[in-house]
Amino acid sequence: MARHLITSAIPYINGIKHLGNLVGSQLPADLYARYLRARGHEVLYLCATDEHGTPAELAAAKAGKPVADYCAEMHEVQAEIAKGFRLSFDHFGRSSSEQNKRLTQHFAKVLDERGLIREVSETQMYSKADGRFLPDRYIEGTCPACGFESARGDQCDNCTKQLDPVDLINPHSTISGSTDLEMRETKHLYLRQSAMKDQIEEWIDTREGWPILTTSIAKKWLNDGDGLQDRGITRDLDWGVPVQKGDDPWPGMEGKVFYVWFDAPIEYIACGQEWVDAGKGTDWERWWRTDKGADDVRYTQFMGKDNVPFHTLSFPVTILGSGEPWKLVDYIKSFNYLNYDGGQFSTSRGRGVFMDQALEILPADYWRWWLLANVPETSDAEFTWENFQHGVNKDLADVLGNFASRVTKFCRSKFSEAVPQGGEQGPRELQLIADLTAKVREYEAHMEAIEIRKAAAALRGAWVLGNEYLQEVAPWSTLKEDPAQAAMQIRLALNLIRLYAVISAPFIPDACADLLKAMQTEDDSWPTDVAAALTLLPAGHAFTVPDVTFRKITDDERAEWQQRFAGKRD
Ligand code: MF3
Ligand code: ZN
Repeated sequence: MARHLITSAIPYINGIKHLGNLVGSQLPADLYARYLRARGHEVLYLCATDEHGTPAELAAAKAGKPVADYCAEMHEVQAEIAKGFRLSFDHFGRSSSEQNKRLTQHFAKVLDERGLIREVSETQMYSKADGRFLPDRYIEGTCPACGFESARGDQCDNCTKQLDPVDLINPHSTISGSTDLEMRETKHLYLRQSAMKDQIEEWIDTREGWPILTTSIAKKWLNDGDGLQDRGITRDLDWGVPVQKGDDPWPGMEGKVFYVWFDAPIEYIACGQEWVDAGKGTDWERWWRTDKGADDVRYTQFMGKDNVPFHTLSFPVTILGSGEPWKLVDYIKSFNYLNYDGGQFSTSRGRGVFMDQALEILPADYWRWWLLANVPETSDAEFTWENFQHGVNKDLADVLGNFASRVTKFCRSKFSEAVPQGGEQGPRELQLIADLTAKVREYEAHMEAIEIRKAAAALRGAWVLGNEYLQEVAPWSTLKEDPAQAAMQIRLALNLIRLYAVISAPFIPDACADLLKAMQTEDDSWPTDVAAALTLLPAGHAFTVPDVTFRKITDDERAEWQQRFAGKRD
């Protein structure tokens, strides 16, 4: 039994996320958390909403609400939807929490004391039409690196380059559209990332077995010479963590806040404090301070590839630079993008399926299965309605669902609603058990390595083995000549339903809970010994036939949904 700390990139507060966002961090993190809990490990899975910065301000303005109210409301909305998807956070925090404010101000103070912060007088874009400085997303323009025309002030969505608003070509205000921008003097704090380059590089070089996607992005930013430039960590905004040195004011920085990317990852830690303050835990330092026991913890982060530079470089600079014994990440699992039906998911254009809409049309498990089985792990992946329909109908309805319903219905009609006694198992049963053992071990290995597509394939393989067995031994035909043999086969198959419910639960928790309920057992112990696990439901054990575990998606539904989600949201 080990201790696992898991975080998924904290979603921006502005609006409901689409399935591309979900599959790139929260859903795989949830899968991993559920798997590790099922294996008996102690898990702390934290996530939160990312509430500061220009995206929040802009969205609140658009909604005509004070930004604090807007964030409070949207946090509840996102929390509800996360529940709908069965995301099993131990706590879903808020980066605007008091805990995060204090911790962010603490880090700034410590980094300053260690000489890692310098004050810079700089010229910044000021919009006369808007009467304010225009940080980050208040400006758009052409990316100097790749030529993409709607690069934002802080990052180019096309080539992922981190930018400063002043780098943009042909910049304009996203508030008013005005191009009447001028450069004005303002003072900001810079984190001296360059001073940490060697330490960060050494840290990255000594990470073993990290996904290539993660290390290649990290190395690219380190070696291109512009990855670890000093970075502005303050902004001229109203909404955010006020710039302070711990509890003390920071002379000259009045009215400024920390940059959202400075405080957001610190929320991972603050979220642990929130978890304790919410009464759900008793000791967050045991997870986060290596001097308080966290050196036994394995910390895994999940995120989309656009987040990798911040987690491999910027946040480790904060942690390592502090010189304090904070827990550093042990493994960063990153993902490519999921595209939608021949293009991209687009929040601004409302293209694709958003989390709330997905739950309106089908239960969470259908989405969880397809998204995880097709997670953009080694390359970008694509959601199409045909693929979705095919995957759900084949894997969930035809294979797993069909197995459970066939076996239970057959038993009910030919024997009773209780596990039959049956005769001795033969070579075909031993073969099935051997094959299943191999598949389950393969599944475990992929889950432990967080190779999600491979894990899904192994799980599907385990379902297929049961179906093949049933098809081959055909208890419905052996029943007449040899009822004891048919009973033995059905007894094994009923036990297999329980085994499937246990090992599949990290992917499809609701269906598996239903299956366990139908099998009238609360024994969800992991099948470390597959043969033994297949004897757990004894003869005479009562069960019920589950309600249809998975239904098929019809062609009409597919066509309707394709139409409905092609265009503008609302
Ligand atoms: N909100 C960011 C995004 O969705 C992720 C922030 S992750 C953290 O891209 F590390 F900053 F917390
Ligand atoms: Zn670019």
